[in-house]
Amino acid sequence: MSTTSKAPSPPPPAHAPIDEGATFAYPKDLDIPGHETRHDQGSRKTRTLKTFSMEGKVCVVTGAARGLGNMFARTFVESGCSKLVIIDLRQEDADKAAAELVADFENQGEVEKGEIECLGLGCDVSSEPAVQAAFAQISAKFGGVHVLVANAGIVANYPALEYPAERMKQLFDINVHGVFYCAREAAKIMIEKQIQGSIVLIASMSANIVNYPQPQMPYNASKAAVKHMAASLAVEWAQKGVRVNALSPGYMLTALTKAVVAPHVGMLESWAEKTPMGRVGDPEDLKGAIVYLASDASKFTTGSELVVDGGYSII
Ligand SMILES: NC(=O)c1ccc[n+]([C@@H]2O[C@H](COP(=O)([O-])OP(=O)(O)OC[C@H]3O[C@@H](n4cnc5c(N)ncnc54)[C@H](O)[C@@H]3O)[C@@H](O)[C@H]2O)c1
Repeated sequence: MSTTSKAPSPPPPAHAPIDEGATFAYPKDLDIPGHETRHDQGSRKTRTLKTFSMEGKVCVVTGAARGLGNMFARTFVESGCSKLVIIDLRQEDADKAAAELVADFENQGEVEKGEIECLGLGCDVSSEPAVQAAFAQISAKFGGVHVLVANAGIVANYPALEYPAERMKQLFDINVHGVFYCAREAAKIMIEKQIQGSIVLIASMSANIVNYPQPQMPYNASKAAVKHMAASLAVEWAQKGVRVNALSPGYMLTALTKAVVAPHVGMLESWAEKTPMGRVGDPEDLKGAIVYLASDASKFTTGSELVVDGGYSII
């Protein structure tokens, strides 16, 4: 009989520090949110289909302190949303992004002072209790959630033969489990408050194709999981008034990807060359897609994947 007692399982790894070189680490001197906000995209006075309006909807975007998530949050404001939540890993980053968003729209004269309420929440989406606490706080403040964009995600590149197991677990904790925890908490609120809600899971064209030459097996597998998670949740929640769809971007030239490709001569050109449209995506190329999926314009669309990749994955 063995006398060895079973050691308690180690705590999950912290995921903020990731070796540069193995991952798309955010450049420390890059003082912009990951995209350029343009204020020349029309106003609410523009005549447009009303079902695309985000007016009256409480929108929550994870990983929205920068990059595509920040652009999604701003796009909702451009489309009429005035109550939104920016979730990101660190409270200070979320607060800063929320304050900057409000100030930008107010300073441009696009909204009245005080018209936009934007709550910044520090929350690690890979922690189920942290996600539960964040959504309880959102529900208490805004009385419900109409839209969730589960966008927070990471990528790290190692050849599969050398991929550190802890890194793979970490990536799945954020990209897969974190997306699920957020979707489930949002859906609970939508169902309880009888809100016709829309949940958009940010997958990637990597759900369908293998990126080359960069080795990123866990990322690709995680995005395939996200895509099928959207379809599976859509079926479970279809009769409860909650729609779930996946949005799959191709290569998007965010401030981050610009910095990442800068040292690799020819990488950007090779991505563009493999894209039938002959270029990589501008984050703005996702604006119509995110508003379509989040708004009532897509009210009979659930379980689908909207791929926005310039045709990359069809050849
Ligand atoms: N940029 C692209 O070309 C591209 C293409 C396809 C898919 N995507 C997907 O779009 C999403 C956003 O990508 P991006 O390029 O804007 O990335 P990004 O790194 O610029 O932004 C991601 C944000 O998520 C936050 N985050 C990371 N881990 C978190 C956690 N555990 N809890 C809460 N927040 C966390 C980060 O702090 C950051 O603000 C990701 O899911 C990514 O996989 C991006």
